[in-house]
Amino acid sequence: MRLMLVVGARPQIIKSAPIIREAKNHDEIELQLVHTGQHYDFEMSKIFFDEMTLPEPLVNLSVGSGTHAWQTGNMMIKLEKTMTEHRPDLVMVPGDTNSTLAGALVAAKLHVPVAHVEAGARSYDMRMPEEVNRRLTDHSSSLLFAPTKNCARNLASEGFASKAVKVPGDPMYDSLLQHIAAASRIDILKKLGLKSEKYAALTLHRPENVDDSRTLGRIMKAIISLKLTTVFPAHPRTRQHLEATGLLARIRENAHIKLADPLGYHEMLQLTKHSNMVFTDSGGLQKEAFWLHTPCVTLRERTEWIETTGSHANILVGSNPGKISRAAARIMETPEIKTKLKKIKNPFGDGHASQRIISEILKSR
Ligand code: UD1
Repeated sequence: MRLMLVVGARPQIIKSAPIIREAKNHDEIELQLVHTGQHYDFEMSKIFFDEMTLPEPLVNLSVGSGTHAWQTGNMMIKLEKTMTEHRPDLVMVPGDTNSTLAGALVAAKLHVPVAHVEAGARSYDMRMPEEVNRRLTDHSSSLLFAPTKNCARNLASEGFASKAVKVPGDPMYDSLLQHIAAASRIDILKKLGLKSEKYAALTLHRPENVDDSRTLGRIMKAIISLKLTTVFPAHPRTRQHLEATGLLARIRENAHIKLADPLGYHEMLQLTKHSNMVFTDSGGLQKEAFWLHTPCVTLRERTEWIETTGSHANILVGSNPGKISRAAARIMETPEIKTKLKKIKNPFGDGHASQRIISEILKSR
């Protein structure tokens, strides 16, 4: 079976790593790894291939950055050529990025079956590009791998046939389990001068938070005013906006905000595990914080990962400064919070999602 796996952005590489590893255990699978080039900086892409010892992609389409239509369109043109040349039997697309949608649309139109990994996640907010991408990808797919039962229910409510939907668990959780030991050997705390459970971590990259200078300013001022030591590995998009709005200078005046370049996977896991709390608008980091029993304050109005919101493990605050400071205060005032979070059941599977995914695609031949 020629299995083409299309990746392009940072979180897709993390989700794909355990699937690639599992595919290698099956001689009957010829893996065709295609990188769209959506992410191209070393610390947004190559570092993950190195850390997770992934094979070089068969092709890198080097599409790069642009508007949504430009980026997705260019990916589609190049993917059509790649798929026509390499004739995959099945195209697998993980996640919800423009690379995911481009891969799914091109394959569906070439009548190649599509398997979507992370199917059925819904934020019910169509202003998020990822929500558009995941809905259209699901509806172009013939095999839908839902990470949780809730995601499978979302698909059922949209009329998907139950035999097309599988619930193998979340390969992102597989990935975390496979890398947590290596992550524990990374000395990111020492490198950044931090003490375990005496700091917070912050990541921000969603267009609705960072592209609008008022929203970005509101969030940054709220975080700065908490007076917590906060590590802030800034996404390239965020850094550009911080620079353009003068907020970078403001951050630098506040020594308790430790601005850093984007971190590798191992460093980020270690940073999250030992932090008091995480502030983020990322989908993946909400789940990683949940798995590592670190309380999460999500800088969004809605989340597709409602599984993480029980017992205040993940508090949704949008960009509202009052809600940000109340959530932080509640976390700081809850004794033994990490011990409490450890007791919450994990609905994202048992760490063997990738084996089930590969076994299902082999059965689908
Ligand atoms: C993309 C995904 C998002 C995912 C995120 C993870 C879509 C619609 N969004 O958002 O779901 O959570 O990746 O990071 O697919 N840039 C660089 N270097 C890079 C990549 C990007 O400098 O290696 C800059 C470019 O200026 C670019 C901007 O970041 O314009 C945004 O990059 P893009 O890949 O288009 O979207 P993300 O915000 O990363």
